[in-house]
Amino acid sequence: MTVPPKTIEETQTLLASEDYVCGRALATVTYLALTLGKPLFLEGEPGTGKTEIAKALSAGLGRRLIRLQCYEGLDAASAVYEWNFAAQMIAIRTAEAAGGADQDALTANLFSERYLTERPLLAAMRPQAGGAPVLLIDELDRTDEPFEAFLLEALSDFQVTIPELGAVKAPEPPIVIITSNRTREVHDALKRRCLYHWVGYPDFDREMEIVRARAPEATETLSREVVAFVQQLRTEDLFKRPGVAETIDWAKCLIALDAVALSPQVISDTLGAILKYQDDISAMQGSEAKRILDQARTKLEPA
Ligand SMILES: Nc1ncnc2c1ncn2[C@@H]1O[C@H](COP(=O)(O)OP(=O)(O)O)[C@@H](O)[C@H]1O
Ligand SMILES: [Mg+2]
Repeated sequence: MTVPPKTIEETQTLLASEDYVCGRALATVTYLALTLGKPLFLEGEPGTGKTEIAKALSAGLGRRLIRLQCYEGLDAASAVYEWNFAAQMIAIRTAEAAGGADQDALTANLFSERYLTERPLLAAMRPQAGGAPVLLIDELDRTDEPFEAFLLEALSDFQVTIPELGAVKAPEPPIVIITSNRTREVHDALKRRCLYHWVGYPDFDREMEIVRARAPEATETLSREVVAFVQQLRTEDLFKRPGVAETIDWAKCLIALDAVALSPQVISDTLGAILKYQDDISAMQGSEAKRILDQARTKLEPA
């Protein structure tokens, strides 16, 4: 287990060791979240590194990563624990076949750890060998308000109660990272418990650093063109603007095609790596790609 960072700079270094490029502001809230033991709430456009920071922290700190992927209709049973009915039924049948075991003993046995299916929130409350785990509650905006209220309670005392077994309390609070793509507003009560940070698109220099870290095979010239083009593309009126993930994917596609520089032809051939909606793609066909490429190039200083 690595010791938690003691300064903002150490936080940046820790994340950099996992190829995560982190600006001063994000490093500061991350450092504070680790130091104060408060959940970190990250909101922002898709593909801007919200989920990835939880992975980088867990790898960098040598802590287990426990992920709760949120979705519409997610309920407490799927988030905390469920009884394994099938296994319980088999135990009952087996006891019956063996000639009717002691009913009380059977019932007690059926509601023991053995038949408990652990889900992420319960797992996060258990002691872990390497220290408190990183609990990633991903895309919270996809769930509904009742689940949010439930989560608020679980996060306030880091404890979950199983009626048949009692309370399970985390020996040490997990490192909690909550992300939202802001498809709806998350309730104030939950945000108030957390440190908040808006993760926006990186500027040119930061995105270059990310591409260098994540697609090191790309030449400097190609990376600069790719980043400049994507940055320019984000200023266009699009249905869905490309995130950092798309920039990296695109750079990798271009490398796979042995492209050394952008051209209108190679752009239109590979638009599917950066734009995922047909309306956006068709709007970029033809002279549009060339116009954006020209604009992007004028912003690049002569190399
Ligand atoms: N700051 C960053 N440093 C390194 N890689 C990044 C960064 N931001 C985004 N990425 C890359 O973009 C991908 C998508 O990021 P992700 O965290 O999944 O986005 P989201 O904000 O939607 O959760 C990551 O897998 C990673 O490769
Ligand atoms: Mg994500």
